[in-house]
Amino acid sequence: MREKFKEFMRNVPQAVFIAIGKSTDNKLAGLTISSFESISLKPLITLISIDKNAESLNVFLKAIGWTISLLNEEQEEISKFFSNKDISQAERFKLEYPKSASLKIPYIENAIGYIECIYYRHLEMGDHIIFFGKVVNVQMLNDKKPLIYYHRSYRKIM
Ligand SMILES: Cc1cc2nc3c(=O)[nH]c(=O)nc-3n(C[C@H](O)[C@H](O)[C@H](O)COP(=O)(O)O)c2cc1C
Repeated sequence: MREKFKEFMRNVPQAVFIAIGKSTDNKLAGLTISSFESISLKPLITLISIDKNAESLNVFLKAIGWTISLLNEEQEEISKFFSNKDISQAERFKLEYPKSASLKIPYIENAIGYIECIYYRHLEMGDHIIFFGKVVNVQMLNDKKPLIYYHRSYRKIM
């Protein structure tokens, strides 16, 4: 059944985001995610879901907050960079990133926009941990089209 379920999910077109967390001891971690959801408008709560095996998990478990950048259709390489297990967290942050307006956490330049969340709570769920964040800032950066992940490859909206 798991294989059938994966096939089902491959048929769901997904927007691609980069989540970058900052811990209370000022460590950074970032990864490509598609598991971003808006949960509540009053208060503004969102969630992301992170694999228990992810190197970034430790930082998110101690996070003061994180940014979520919505990638545009030209940012496939950034998605690949932040999802490549051969590129360590340390390497991912050797590059320079702009800092978010409120929490001063890196976000992805030229993304369609980014939000800043402060840690709200987390929930262990099977092989993932779900992180709920309270939105404290929203910045739209351009009106480009989003990058889409569908059937294991990157697509553009026509
Ligand atoms: C399009 C796409 C979406 C992804 N979504 C998630 C996700 O929602 N949660 C997750 O834990 N990993 C997701 N991944 C996998 C992580 O980006 C990847 O395992 C990353 O290297 C984890 O980094 P880390 O182990 O250094 O923390 C996704 C990968 C891709 C290509």
